[in-house]
Amino acid sequence: MIIAVDGPAASGKGTIARALAARFGLPYMDTGLLYRATALNLLSTGGDPESEFAAARATDIAQIDLADPELKSETVGGIASRISAYPMVRQALLERQRRFAAQEGGAVLDGRDIGTEIAPHAEVKLFVTASPEVRAERRLAELKRMDLDVHFPDVLADIHARDARDRDRAAAPLVMAEDAVLLDTSEMSAEAAIEAAVAAVEARLSAA
Ligand code: C5P
Repeated sequence: MIIAVDGPAASGKGTIARALAARFGLPYMDTGLLYRATALNLLSTGGDPESEFAAARATDIAQIDLADPELKSETVGGIASRISAYPMVRQALLERQRRFAAQEGGAVLDGRDIGTEIAPHAEVKLFVTASPEVRAERRLAELKRMDLDVHFPDVLADIHARDARDRDRAAAPLVMAEDAVLLDTSEMSAEAAIEAAVAAVEARLSAA
C-alpha cells in the first residue's frame, strides 16, 4: 500500500505521515528533506540559487546526512522552497522518490506532489492543511524550541510566501489530488489529527 500525504508548509503532514508509517508498518520518506539537502549542498558549495543549472547539479546528494539538523533551518527551508520551482531540480529528484514509493509492500511519502506526480496510483491520498495562522503558530513554537529569536508576523509572512511559491509554480504545483481525502487540522491536536488520518486510511482500505 502506498500512502501519499501532501499539504502546505507546517500543516502537520510530517507528524501524520510518520505516525501512519509506524501504525501500518511501512517505510517512510520525508521528500522535503531531498529539496532541503539540495539547498544545503548548494549553499555549502557556494552555488547560486538563481541558477537552475547550479541547483540541478546540487541534487547530487548521495553523501548528505539526512539527519543533519541544519536541514531544518529557516535559511535552508527558504532556499529549498525557491529551488523546488525549477523543473530540472524536480526531475533530478523524481526517480529516487518513485523508487522509494515502488518498493515491495509499499511506503508512506509526504511532500507537495506525491499524490499528483510521484505516486498518482497511490491507494490512499491525504491532503493535510490548516489555516496560515495556525501553521505559523506551530512553526513559531518549533523554532522557539530551537531557541531561535523569532516573531509571529515574520513567521506568518514566510508561510504566506512559501504557500504562494508552492501553489503558483508551473512545475508540480501544490494542488489537492482529485481523489485525496482533505484533512483540515486547524482545530485538532496532533493526536486527534493522527486518529483522523488513521480512520481515513482504514475507510479507504475497507472500501477497496
Ligand atoms: O516540507 P518541507 O518544508 O521540508 O519542504 C521544503 C521545501 O521543498 C518546500 O518549501 C517545498 O517548496 C519543497 N517541496 C516540494 N515538493 C515536495 C516536498 C517539498 O516542492 N514533494
